[in-house]
Amino acid sequence: MILSIPNLLDRDTVAALRQQLDAADAPWVDGRATAGYSGAPVKHNQQINELSPLAAELGDRVLAALERNPLFISFALPNQVYPPLFNRYGPGMTFGSHVDGAVRISPANGRKIRTDLSLTLFLSDPSDYDGGELQIEDTYGVHEIKLPAGDAIVYPASSLHRVTPVTRGVRVASFFWAQSLIRDDACRVILFDMDNAIQRLHVTDADESARRTLIGCYHNLLRQWSDT
Ligand code: NI
Repeated sequence: MILSIPNLLDRDTVAALRQQLDAADAPWVDGRATAGYSGAPVKHNQQINELSPLAAELGDRVLAALERNPLFISFALPNQVYPPLFNRYGPGMTFGSHVDGAVRISPANGRKIRTDLSLTLFLSDPSDYDGGELQIEDTYGVHEIKLPAGDAIVYPASSLHRVTPVTRGVRVASFFWAQSLIRDDACRVILFDMDNAIQRLHVTDADESARRTLIGCYHNLLRQWSDT
């Protein structure tokens, strides 16, 4: 399942991040710095040096927003989140079809993170560039994603995906991965649906004891299925 998260960052925060990313001394490097052997030949973009203080500072702001976002928590059931990276695509830049590596080592603490979910947080408005669509393949076909600045998309990291060539302007984004408490996508979606249903029963003042039973089922499934 692919989920968009509207307004993960508000406009002021996006503007503040962009000001630092667009500064002349921002440490942009070749995007292949973090690509594996299969991704490197098709990756043509730039990214902020992931070991730089700027990457850590801006990444922490993104993580703080994620931790406060109930939709992300409910959908992803995150265990660990990889420190956010930042990339940009100018005219002619693209990232061909690939599947993200299954395990990454966090530069922050050396821990291995299994990439269950991939995230892209858009930091350019769609009117600022042409091309640069994120295309994600799943069993229903190809989904073309281009969201307003501040919105994020979360999708299974097992999906084949690509970024089409930018033909005008600059596409700036943050991208990273999460290891979920629930490894299996289908199980995770069941828990997300159940959580949504429980929330709706609450706001519609439905039978309280039935709602309590469902909450119990939710937590008992989470206990059965989660790994930490
Ligand atoms: Ni990717």
